[in-house]
Amino acid sequence: MKRDLISVDDLTLADIQGYLDMASLLESVPDERKLTRLPGKIMMTMFFEPSTRTRLSFEAAMCRLGGRAIGFAGADATSVVKGESLVDTVRTVEHYADILVIRHPKEGTARVAGEISVRPVVNAGDGANQHPSQTLLDLYTIQKLYGRIGDLHIAFVGDLKYSRTVHSLIRALIKFSNLRFLLVSPESLRLPPYLIPPPAECANVTFQETRSLEDAIRSCDLIYMTRVQRERFPDLLEFERVKDAYCIDAGMLRDAPGHLRILHPLPRVNEIAYSVDRTTYASYFQQVQNGLIMRQAILLTLLGVTP
Ligand code: CP
Repeated sequence: MKRDLISVDDLTLADIQGYLDMASLLESVPDERKLTRLPGKIMMTMFFEPSTRTRLSFEAAMCRLGGRAIGFAGADATSVVKGESLVDTVRTVEHYADILVIRHPKEGTARVAGEISVRPVVNAGDGANQHPSQTLLDLYTIQKLYGRIGDLHIAFVGDLKYSRTVHSLIRALIKFSNLRFLLVSPESLRLPPYLIPPPAECANVTFQETRSLEDAIRSCDLIYMTRVQRERFPDLLEFERVKDAYCIDAGMLRDAPGHLRILHPLPRVNEIAYSVDRTTYASYFQQVQNGLIMRQAILLTLLGVTP
């Protein structure tokens, strides 16, 4: 049976722990030994949307494991522009590679690719739906920062309506326990209610909403900032209205608790000032670093290879 990584909803707590343990183990494997893990294997990156971190870190992860990466960044140079369907594209490229990594603006596309393909498929972001490899690296970062994933007060700030990284991370975190979520967004970018499970389904997890970033800075252990994503808005006037709703700078952190940490999936625009980078609160470039190791863990897991 091939394994895909399409949605965190498909993962059990044991699956998530398996990825975290694999990433942790990989940190202790010397680079030259890693090169012997996936020789001869080819990964196909199919990016129908722009990316810096996800595509390049998957490609770097494959190279670090001794395999090779091929693919496209933007469908403009593929036969999609001649009208070829996603189904036929997947059925073609699966003959060229051992694993497919796909990003697409349309929700559900990765699921379709996973159902069609005989190869393992990784969802590298499908519209506003999910971004499970980002979630695994976020969880890995949280575990490294706090030594645990439960028992935390976490604020999600900004675009909670369209942010696939927020949607995935919340859906994964509710599998853990003793978590309090503070949702900080403009009215028009509130978290869609369907992402909040009924209380009976998740143990000791609570959700609270506020419009105040200051509340989050004062009371939370972790702030997960997000970019307001121009590309997801059907109405650009609404984007202009909310794009600067939440911006954090070093001055606002003057009285923040010492243990507070700030994460961001990146890219950022103006929601975190560069002045924050120099503070102890900034952990978003640690996320980038952890992304490379987690994506190695994902490739090994889906290809059934031990570190
Ligand atoms: N976090 C993230 O998905 O970044 P990219 O869009 O650069 O891949």
